[in-house]
Amino acid sequence: MNKRNEWTFDNHFHSPPSKILIIEDDLDTSALLFHTLTEEGYTADQVFDGEKGLEAIQEKKYDLILLDLMMPLIDGFDLCQKVKSNEKMKSVPILILTAKDDYNAKIRGFQVGADDYITKPFVIGELLARIRAHLRIQELKHDLTVSENRYRQIIDHSPDAILVLSNNKEVLFSNKRLIEIIEETSEESIAGKNIAELTSISPIFQEVFDSINRVESQKTHIQNEICLNSSSIGETTQKTFFELFCLPITNEYSQIETFQVIIRDVTQRKKVEDAFIQAEKIHSLGILTAGIAHEINNPLTGISNAIQIIKKCELPSERQAEICEHVLSNINRIAKIVKELTTFSRPYGGISEVFNIIEAISDTLTLSRYQSGSEKIKFCWSPPSTPIYLSGNRNKFQQVIINLLVNAVQATAPNGVITVEASEEAKVLTVSIADTGCGIPPNQLKKIFDPFFTTKRDWKGTGLGLAVSYRIIQLFNGTINVESTLGKGSKFTIKIPAYHLTTKNE
Ligand SMILES: Nc1ncnc2c1ncn2[C@@H]1O[C@H](COP(=O)(O)OP(=O)(O)O)[C@@H](O)[C@H]1O
Ligand SMILES: [Mg+2]
Repeated sequence: MNKRNEWTFDNHFHSPPSKILIIEDDLDTSALLFHTLTEEGYTADQVFDGEKGLEAIQEKKYDLILLDLMMPLIDGFDLCQKVKSNEKMKSVPILILTAKDDYNAKIRGFQVGADDYITKPFVIGELLARIRAHLRIQELKHDLTVSENRYRQIIDHSPDAILVLSNNKEVLFSNKRLIEIIEETSEESIAGKNIAELTSISPIFQEVFDSINRVESQKTHIQNEICLNSSSIGETTQKTFFELFCLPITNEYSQIETFQVIIRDVTQRKKVEDAFIQAEKIHSLGILTAGIAHEINNPLTGISNAIQIIKKCELPSERQAEICEHVLSNINRIAKIVKELTTFSRPYGGISEVFNIIEAISDTLTLSRYQSGSEKIKFCWSPPSTPIYLSGNRNKFQQVIINLLVNAVQATAPNGVITVEASEEAKVLTVSIADTGCGIPPNQLKKIFDPFFTTKRDWKGTGLGLAVSYRIIQLFNGTINVESTLGKGSKFTIKIPAYHLTTKNE
């Protein structure tokens, strides 16, 4: 039946001839039909009453049935109804043979499920044309089922969970992986239900619900990462990370018809990414260490000297108070450095918070002043007077700023300038870090965000700073871009879209 040359599941190159069953009690008509069909290359079987016809259909798979209406025992109408109400047999097309002007018979024939009719006495050409047309329809139906099954299999075996929702947010389709992830037994438990109803089944649906609402109001796709505490092994709870991708499918009038949701388990990738981020953090802390050590050493020397003076000499109480004041201010200096360091270096976890990016940038700038070479560079930072709040992981955001600042300091010669700017416009946050450093050659611009790409020798660079920064900004649904002129300087610009910006509820 399938004569196409392309690959199908039941890939066959030479289809056997189509099998046609003739159910006709008039011997002459039956013989004529049989002769015509076999001459045309079809395989035909003949039976002469309805009962035998039914037996034959149950025993053998036919591609088409020619059915006379007026027959003894079971007539054509009854037989047609029986075949069409049987799940297994109903797909086979039935062409009824009717007398020329018997309109009532034709109408009844269609009512009981017949696919077409041939008027007796029939014209051979018309008979064959109708048979061919029905066999072709069958062939197309078959191809469609094969193709549907093929895509269904691919989708079902996809490692990603797939969910399709109607514009009313009711489940139209879900694949097996989704059922596994939400730990349900069958698709029936979610089929046709509204996503709002499903939020109690799994926390994943709560996330899908929130994301779909955002997709609906913004009419654009969104991607975010979610963390779930899944199974507990011993004392520790295993965290599973998913990437959620929600996409609106619109019609020609830009109205949303369906929502597509793809949920990907990214736990393993996340572990590797976190290891990269950690490695880069340790590296940048390493770069800052010498400056930090120096910065702590100065007040420590001051404290040590003061203590020795107090120990050795009998001092008047006024002088003693003055020295104690000096000790305290030095201790405060050290405490400040330690505070700056801990906010930056505490473990990431999955903590998401609402933070003021102006403060985060100011703290990071203070830290970056410890980097060797930075003392001869002018930093320009005019923080906007109103806070800009961002929701997400503050630490990771600071990691990006430090990575960009470390690079800028490394690229900039003494007396150069590093300008940091932050603003919010039309609910988009923009942060830029520009330097007057060496710039980036055009042929390297495409590579700088690749992991392990570095032009720094002697282990001064890991090549992970920008790759990690790119990924972190992606997690904020933002972008990071660079403009650079060789010999003049570079400017990195981060943009984070509206929905991460939030007003603090205080
Ligand atoms: N501000 C900058 N000016 C000039 N080149 C830069 C700047 N920032 C990054 N680069 C280039 O991009 C490369 C990759 O940066 P990064 O991923 O941070 O790795 P690393 O700093 O460890 O080399 C650097 O080696 C450098 O060649
Ligand atoms: Mg770097």
